[in-house]
Amino acid sequence: MNFQIELEKKVSEIETIIQSFLPKEEGFAATMAQAMNYSMRAGGKRLRPLFLMETCRLFQGEERLAAPFAAAIEMIHTHSLIHDDLPAIDNDDYRRGRLTTHKAFGEAMGILGGDALLNYAYETMFRAFDIAPGEEKVIRAMRLLASKTGIDGMLGGQSVDVENDGKPLDKDMLDYIYEHKTSALIEAAMMAGAVLAGAGEEQISLVEKAAGNIGLAFQIKDDILDVTSTEEELGKPVGSDEKNHKITYVTLFGTRQAAEKVEMLSREAIELLDSLEQKNEFLSLLVEYLIRRRK
Ligand code: IPE
Ligand code: IPE
Ligand code: MG
Ligand code: MG
Ligand code: MG
Repeated sequence: MNFQIELEKKVSEIETIIQSFLPKEEGFAATMAQAMNYSMRAGGKRLRPLFLMETCRLFQGEERLAAPFAAAIEMIHTHSLIHDDLPAIDNDDYRRGRLTTHKAFGEAMGILGGDALLNYAYETMFRAFDIAPGEEKVIRAMRLLASKTGIDGMLGGQSVDVENDGKPLDKDMLDYIYEHKTSALIEAAMMAGAVLAGAGEEQISLVEKAAGNIGLAFQIKDDILDVTSTEEELGKPVGSDEKNHKITYVTLFGTRQAAEKVEMLSREAIELLDSLEQKNEFLSLLVEYLIRRRK
């Protein structure tokens, strides 16, 4: 398998799915719809939908049930980025290679467009019931996305993250922040893919464990790139963490040890996935690829 070609093909399939679920830019609220679509259409790596679809494939699930969830999880993620960039949070001006939503549309539309995108994610997930009315797997996947996004998930992590800007942090709190602000949504993506494919309980918990590692590795790598990359390559500012006086894995342990941690966590995740009877070579290669990603 040529991984790069396969990756491009799969991302382009996801782009098509995402486009098909975006809100229409019409009526009196057209400006907010434009603000919602502006960042959704700016691209990004589309990793969460990829993880969702590929985990669904791992367990031989149906793609048509997974498609609204793939679009929805990218909406939740994009909502989190729009709000993460707001002046009251990280105060960043570039994202996905263009001005952030609040810079392009004003702060009010940044707030409202972000809120509306989070809500639209649920409107989109509900559309899975058009295909499969009353389906238990859909209910369970929605419950998962809801809990992994809220106070016990991503938003819990974001709140502890901003509350501690500029304050000394110990490793326990740092782990809480990373496991919630970043891992939780990757767990939701992979677990929803498994649930929608009808995977068993043991398989779902193994996937949760692997996804937890992938998410932690992903955030540590993000922190490394914040000090080692360039704005051109990342499509978002570098030095954002320093500007916000954040304690990260890099400030606590240094770049080299942080990179070792990324490698170790990712290897563990691959081993977990490899221990399953079902196989998806692309999924393991994706985790491997993310260790050395440059954006
Ligand atoms: C950025 O996520 C926020 C983090 C959790 C580190 P991504 O790096 O997946 O951002 P996009 O979707 O590719 O823009
Ligand atoms: C944010 O982490 C994670 C989210 C849930 C949005 P960061 O603040 O490090 O993400 P970037 O670097 O701005 O993408
Ligand atoms: Mg942040
Ligand atoms: Mg940020
Ligand atoms: Mg960052």
